[in-house]
Parts: sequence; C-alpha cells; structure tokens
Amino acid sequence: MKTKEIIKDYDLFVMGTYTRYPLVITKGKGKYVWDNNGKRYLDFFPGWAVSGLGHCHPLVVKKTKEQVGKLIHVSNNYYNLLQGRLAKEIIKNSFAGTVFFCNSGAEAIEGAIKLARKYGYPKRYEIISMKKSFHGRTLAAITLTGQPNYHKGFEPMPKGFKYVEFNDFRVLEKAVTKKTVAIVIEPIQGEGGINVAKKEYLKKVKALCNKNDILLIFDEVQSGMGRTGKMFAYQHYGIKPDVMTLAKTLGGGFPIGALVASKKVSKVLSAGTHASTFGGSPIVCAASLAVFEAIKKDKLLDNVNKVGGYLKKQLEALKKKYPLIIKGLKGEGLMLGVELNIEGQHIPVLALKEGLLINCTQKNIIRMLPPLNITKKDVDEALKLFEKVLKKV
Ligand SMILES: Cc1ncc(COP(=O)(O)O)c(C=O)c1O
Repeated sequence: MKTKEIIKDYDLFVMGTYTRYPLVITKGKGKYVWDNNGKRYLDFFPGWAVSGLGHCHPLVVKKTKEQVGKLIHVSNNYYNLLQGRLAKEIIKNSFAGTVFFCNSGAEAIEGAIKLARKYGYPKRYEIISMKKSFHGRTLAAITLTGQPNYHKGFEPMPKGFKYVEFNDFRVLEKAVTKKTVAIVIEPIQGEGGINVAKKEYLKKVKALCNKNDILLIFDEVQSGMGRTGKMFAYQHYGIKPDVMTLAKTLGGGFPIGALVASKKVSKVLSAGTHASTFGGSPIVCAASLAVFEAIKKDKLLDNVNKVGGYLKKQLEALKKKYPLIIKGLKGEGLMLGVELNIEGQHIPVLALKEGLLINCTQKNIIRMLPPLNITKKDVDEALKLFEKVLKKV
C-alpha cells in the first residue's frame, strides 16, 4: 500500500484528533524504526517514551509470545499468575503499599483523583496541581492539567481543582485550604517543557502534606521506569509520595497504567469502588515483568546515568557552537530538553527528513526521550543528524 492510500483511510475513517507527520512506520527494532519505503530513522522519542527499552525488545517479545499462547485475558473476578507478581515488583522498587492496574496514564490519574476524593470524603475534595503540568486527556485528567488550552471547549470543568506555579512553595502553601486533600506533581514536568522540581521545594511540599494530612501524588507516567537514572524520579529527592501513577515504559510497548498507593491509603479504594476491564491482564503483565527484568539484567539505570551524562555534555557543546539557536539544557538522565531561543515546531519535521525522530513541546523545547539502552555511539549518531538540522535552521 502506498503512503497516500494509507493516509487517505485515516483522513476518511480515523477521527482527526492528532497532528500527524506524513510517515508510515512499518517496523521497529531497538532504537530504529523503518517507514513503508524502507527508510530508517533513529528514534529518540520512541512512542512518547512508551517504548522505553526500544522497539520490540527481545525479552518483551519472548515473554509476551509465550504468554499469548497460554492466556491473553481473564477478568479481574479471577486471579491470574502474573498480576500479583508485577504488583510485587513495582512495590519492591518503590514503597510499601498496593497497586491498581489500568491501561493508560490518564486512567491511572483518574484512579489517583478518585482515591484522593474518597480519602477526603465528604469534607475535603480540593486537589492542587501545577501550572504547565500534563496529566492526560480524560475529563478529570485535563482538568487536573494546569494548562488552560487543554480545557478550552470542554467547559464547565469538574469542580475542586486549583493550579499554582511549579517550584514556588509560598504560592502552594497559600493555596492550601481546609478542603485540600491532595497535591499532584510531576517530579519532572514532561509536556510542560522538561522542568525539574527543585530538591528543597519537594522536601517542603512533603512536610506541608504531612502536617495537613494532604496526599502527595507524584505523576511518574513519563519520568518513571528508569528514565531519569533512578527507577522513579522521586528517588532523587529522598522523599516518598503517598500515591504514584505510572504508564508508558512500564508496559514496554503494551498498554498499561498503574496506580500505586502507599500503605496509608492502600485500602481506600475497596471492592466495588473502582475497576478496569482490561487492567492487569496476563499479556501486559508479562510485558511489564520483562521490562523490569531487562532494566535489572542490563543494568539500565547505570547506562542512563552514563549515556545521559554524555548526551548532556555533547548537547552543551552544541549549545556553545549554536548560541543563537540553543538557549539551554534541562532534564535528568535520558529525559532531556533543549531550550531554544526561537520557536522550534518545524525542527522535528526537519529532523524527520534527516532520519531522526524527536519532539518539540511548549513551542521551544526540543524533547529527547531515547531508549534507556542506547550507547554513546547512538548519541553521536543522533547529534550528527541534529546538527545537520541546526545548520538548516
Ligand atoms: C506525566 C503524564 N501523565 C499522564 C499522561 C497521560 O498518559 P496517557 O497518554 O497514557 O493517558 C502523560 C502522557 O504524556 C504524561 O506525560
């Protein structure tokens, strides 16, 4: 099938909710994808961080292939062999508590909002989130998202949400009322432009939450699963949240979301109060267990620190070379943003032509979330292509 015909089917039959590049991807392996004409692209933004181990990671393929012949789905009125094991693995790597499984980041966020509301019921229901945050596209998730452009046309928004400036403790403290039940933070804002929470800020927020019995919810949908050089970004800060949301890399390409509740709130959502038909099915649990196994076996946290540091250093060198274009660098590990002095929405299109996949967010932040298992050589290859693009800019 030719590109034009493929795109025509989309134009006629797929709801036009996405801006798409004219690229049909037919194959993926590791850090590369191929289009329907056989052209190869180095993927430094694999599925918005979903394919965090690269495309079709051999262990994910092996484990899901084995599972698909045994049992694909079973309802949550029964037990399956893998869901409990995966929950245990998540808890072992984070904090004591329990896990609820769903299918996406937004659904994990919905669960977190419901958990907070139930915890505060009936007196406290207000949730404070950060400006420039992003938490997904369902109605409550966009309401929680502190970017008014996502609300436009969907008003009236559900009640009980408030927004404050990120990394400003005083405004947050002032926003807390007797009705506040939770504060939601991405330790590193992804969509908002790779904005890293300050250490002192998060520590003060934690103390504020403890003092007022407010739940601290970390959205680690993008920053979790090794992306920043620790299994979860909050582990850089020496504090723990009460609740954490996960998705993206957690499934190694398969659709999964997880709501992780610490012991204090692990029984708030009791039988009959929350559910998801597909949540924690054997096939996605097999994929996710393979992701944990690969991160450990291949020492990927070490790799993220090593190669992430190298990528940052090389980008710094590019900044020196192109000071009119590059303003600065932001991020941690392999969650990096190149801040531009100019608008950069056309840059991913130019990069595509060179065979490199990257993203632009907030109009001037080039976002790179390459697979956790890339090498320094891959960084060199990517930056060679990126420099070609900068030359055209
Ligand atoms: C921090 C964060 N939370 C939630 C979401 C929503 O996840 P999903 O698109 O899987 O619903 C995203 C997606 O980009 C995200 O980055």
